[in-house]
Amino acid sequence: MTTLLTGGAGFIGSHMSALLLEYEHDFVVVDNLTNSDVSQLKKLEKFFKKKIPFHKIDIRDKSSMKTIFDRYEIDSVIHFAGLKAVNESVNEPKLYHDNNVVGSECLIELVCKYNIKNFIFSSSATVYGEPVYLPIDEDHPLKAMSPYGQNKIDIEKLIIDNPFFNTRCATKILRYFNPVGAYNNGLIGEIPRGIPNNLMPYLLGVVNGTYPYLQVFGDDYKTNDGTPIRDYIHVMDLVEAHLMALQDNKLGIDIYNVGNGKGVSVMEMIKAFEKVNKIEVPYKIMPRREGDVESCYANNKKIGEVLNWKAKHNISDICKDAYLFSQQLKK
Ligand code: NAD
Ligand code: UD1
Repeated sequence: MTTLLTGGAGFIGSHMSALLLEYEHDFVVVDNLTNSDVSQLKKLEKFFKKKIPFHKIDIRDKSSMKTIFDRYEIDSVIHFAGLKAVNESVNEPKLYHDNNVVGSECLIELVCKYNIKNFIFSSSATVYGEPVYLPIDEDHPLKAMSPYGQNKIDIEKLIIDNPFFNTRCATKILRYFNPVGAYNNGLIGEIPRGIPNNLMPYLLGVVNGTYPYLQVFGDDYKTNDGTPIRDYIHVMDLVEAHLMALQDNKLGIDIYNVGNGKGVSVMEMIKAFEKVNKIEVPYKIMPRREGDVESCYANNKKIGEVLNWKAKHNISDICKDAYLFSQQLKK
């Protein structure tokens, strides 16, 4: 039986591929390569000495997607495919709705038609908007702060309102906090396109000399050191949560936060990076970035209790692995 990974050539999908290869679990990757290329999958093929079935297909192309469901005995689907740049979604809301929401609708139609047993959707902590309380649990109210956030809420609703997912499929909605890090001493990792928006990819650009300093967006928040707090989760811990979710065949929908459950400030991240990698991170304090929330971290009790998942990596591991990956890229 085979698992279909939509968007499997991207950052999280390629790490999922690595874990599935480790477990010798059959899978097929579908990706339209709008935000990736096949380089990460190729590296995995070389490392594991195994071919990864890959098809360059857009999930909105229903007839091509149907050939995948027909050709492979797909019994589970992990739906990573989507555009994820918050700023871009503000400038191109229609593109984002069409790619993310309409794309998911097309996929869901096939998932129902082919009676798929397990379905996992990549949602985001962005659905919670500005936190009303901390740590954020799964019952926290939802509020979109961008078209991207609205897409995630809309897709969750498509799933929740569909009787198939409630009664005939083991369905998991995973709300990721801030995935970072890399696999196996940096064999694969995150390759951002253009100037990175997110903290770790930009920080790596600084230590590798692409950018002169890290811009720290605000040090006047009401936090321990004034810089904003996030819940950074190692990407291998994140994909392990998917593996555990795949193994749970309970019918119906479960929603889980996937985060470390620990808040880390921007300054703490810089210090941890410097300490573990023995390298200085030049930075400058800048004005706050529009749309940023002060603090956001998960209550991850539910996934711990129900799926027995626990993060194995701390912030030093995250910084070490991300740096190792950026060093590999230079070779
Ligand atoms: P990514 O951009 O690296 O991977 C997504 C992949 O989907 C890309 O390879 C892209 O080419 C592909 N894709 C996009 N639209 C497609 C379409 N219509 N048809 C086929 N393929 C398509 O992003 P990622 O970080 O790996 O994120 C994976 C999922 O997790 C996304 O849904 C994202 O919204 C969600 N998520 C990511 C984060 C994060 O910080 N990385 C946080 C929360 C949620
Ligand atoms: C951002 C998105 C969010 C998305 C998440 C994961 C916004 C407003 N939010 O969240 O919707 O789900 O990415 O992809 O874009 N920082 C700096 N300097 C930098 C970059 C970031 O100081 O160069 C700070 C930010 O102010 C923030 C923290 O680092 O406090 C983390 O930023 P980032 O990695 O972009 O993630 P989020 O803001 O949590």
